[in-house]
Amino acid sequence: MYTIITPKKILVSLLFVCSPLLKAQDSFEQQINTLLAKMTLEEKVGQMNQYNGFYDATGPAPQGGNAAQKYEHLKKGWVGSMLNVRGVEEVRKIQELVVKESRLGIPMIFGFDVIHGYKTQSPIPLAEAASWDLEAIQKSASIAANEASAVGLNWAFAPMIDISRDARWGRVMEGAGEDPYLGAKVAEARINGFQGDDLSAPNTIAACAKHFVAYGFSEAGREYNTTDIGTNTLFNIALPPFEAAVAADVKTVMNGFNVLNGIPVTGSSYLQRDILKDKWGFEGYVISDWSSIGELVPHGHAENLKQAAEFGAKAGSDMDMESKAYITHLAENVREGKVDEGLVDDAVRRILRVKFELGLFEDPYLYCNEEREKERLFHEDHMQGALEMAKKSMVLLKNDGNLLPLKKDQKGIVVIGDLADDKNSPLGSWRLASDDNTAVSVVEGLQTYTNAFKFVQGPKVFDDDASFLQHVIINTTDSSGMEEAVAAAKMAEVVIMVVGEHGFMSGEARSRTKIDLPGLQHDLLKAVYAVNKNIIMVLMNGRPLTINWEAEYIPTILEAWQLGSQSGNAVAQVLFGDYNPSGKLPMTFPRSVGQVPIYYNHFSTGRAEKEPNVFWSHYADEENSPLYPFGFGLSYSKFRYSDFNLDSSDATQIKVSVKVTNSSTVEGEEVVQLYVNDPYASIVRPVKELKGFKKISLEGGASQTVSFTLTDRELGFYNSKHEWVVEPGKFNVMVGTNSQEGLSGSFERQ
Ligand code: NOJ
Repeated sequence: MYTIITPKKILVSLLFVCSPLLKAQDSFEQQINTLLAKMTLEEKVGQMNQYNGFYDATGPAPQGGNAAQKYEHLKKGWVGSMLNVRGVEEVRKIQELVVKESRLGIPMIFGFDVIHGYKTQSPIPLAEAASWDLEAIQKSASIAANEASAVGLNWAFAPMIDISRDARWGRVMEGAGEDPYLGAKVAEARINGFQGDDLSAPNTIAACAKHFVAYGFSEAGREYNTTDIGTNTLFNIALPPFEAAVAADVKTVMNGFNVLNGIPVTGSSYLQRDILKDKWGFEGYVISDWSSIGELVPHGHAENLKQAAEFGAKAGSDMDMESKAYITHLAENVREGKVDEGLVDDAVRRILRVKFELGLFEDPYLYCNEEREKERLFHEDHMQGALEMAKKSMVLLKNDGNLLPLKKDQKGIVVIGDLADDKNSPLGSWRLASDDNTAVSVVEGLQTYTNAFKFVQGPKVFDDDASFLQHVIINTTDSSGMEEAVAAAKMAEVVIMVVGEHGFMSGEARSRTKIDLPGLQHDLLKAVYAVNKNIIMVLMNGRPLTINWEAEYIPTILEAWQLGSQSGNAVAQVLFGDYNPSGKLPMTFPRSVGQVPIYYNHFSTGRAEKEPNVFWSHYADEENSPLYPFGFGLSYSKFRYSDFNLDSSDATQIKVSVKVTNSSTVEGEEVVQLYVNDPYASIVRPVKELKGFKKISLEGGASQTVSFTLTDRELGFYNSKHEWVVEPGKFNVMVGTNSQEGLSGSFERQ
């Protein structure tokens, strides 16, 4: 039998002796052995086969298979899992079919894209990351797990933890932005939220860290495109959130569609076996992305589907999502000696282990409770949780002249914009289970405060029938409604303009070459600005946008992303000052798409300083700096940083502290950020790297000393041999309010 022995496993086996919990684990392993011994090769391969439900919600329609064949395979025990089957009735039906009719009755695991909620939608993940509030993010994932588990699901294809520096890539909405440190922390919070303390409880589900790995580096931001990054970026930027996910005991990992440095990640034994399973000791299983094993053929890696099955299995892709490569060809590959049966056993062992841990062997219907299903969907507690998360996710980008917060009795408000009364778009992308038009719109949110405002839509921007499967149709020519909007704005004391992207303009397969305001929105803003400068711009979007003109002229900009079910209520609370915005950007806003990829933790060039001639690193037509940097976000409070202190007397525990004072009269929250720079190293290090943050709350006039400890964990990096090292020498440290502003000092480490 093929078993990989890792140091972690040896430790775990030693611990079995003394812990009852580990005894349960041990008994799982024994039961798995017993089961494996009974399984035919076809049954083993069946566990590695995942079918889609009987419709094509998230990918090209299944090829070469039909519902009848799938039913036959289910009955034979040739399907280990299904995706997109949900609802207690449906799940129970299929579980019963498998458990009662198949020879060994091994229960199925049911997966679904629970990306930011099931029915109740939280903000899109990028927005949640902007809260820098790990407790809130964890709670949001636990709410999602609570609802999803109530409809029979026990596995979420989330969190997506791909780092991305390219706002053209539509999937940035699904991740935590550009930074590996923040990304790792958010990954951990989400995994803990989904999986809870007890995976066998009926309200917790297995998480899935995806897409392993470097999928966020797709060239030119085009979906499904090639990725080509050096090992420094791989080890120090792309892999760390996954390493953190494994340390947080994530049960499953999904690979990606991308070719990385010439090898499709789905077929990479180096990534999936050497790093993920051997080096990190990951004991769960790897699911392929939709048909990514089959796609080894069009990638030009495997000659045909049979060889794709061989390569996928050898590379450690344990479960095949819908490409049918395994179910059609894996047994044959084993019989022909092309794939060692030990590898199949290893994959099956991993899959069965997660099923045991979920409690499915004890009760295959654990997640099938009609009462819970009725009770949990759109539960009041979940809606309340979504509201809290939405408030924390907004980022105040500009508030010149303090137009915000509005007074409760503010008169003469005019609200303009196609998105202002939209109840669908704020649900964002990747919300497969949500009911259309169930978000609270901004207009509805404002109505909970006052009816003393006028709403004028302005030119229609987005097609009302926009869907997850097609590109959103955008009006770029018909300006009807413009005049009415301008006329209303002329009479207003203050204009709230809700502009941005439609919720289905980001997400999978939603790459853009231009990342400005779509349609006539920019023209509308300019026309309104010509008659009334008191504009509050509420921005709804799933990615950073190039809004240079707006950033220069519009006095107030609130980044509201797509905030989910409670969108309008959250926006209204911020506009009227019942919630003081506290979010910070998890991703840089470029000035121009030509700057992309743009990110704060870049290297210095040999020609970073401005020269009197042209021979330094810059553009002829744009500044190097971003429009808004990583970590940026304002508040209705004002925070002052002072008393930077650095104590390096203990080289293993460097203490850094600052005093933060709320110099305003308004209570508020601040995310205090710690950045480190290693100025000379064997591998060039970034100009700065986030290595700590704390979100604090301060009453008006109050101060707090915020402390951080720097250990080898924060000071080290993966060197050219991919070893974690801390090199002696100078380190610079900055603590501040964003990645560009703060107090700094330095120390020497021997
Ligand atoms: C393709 C996406 O890349 C992946 O993230 C998702 O989980 C699967 N489809 C299943 O819907």
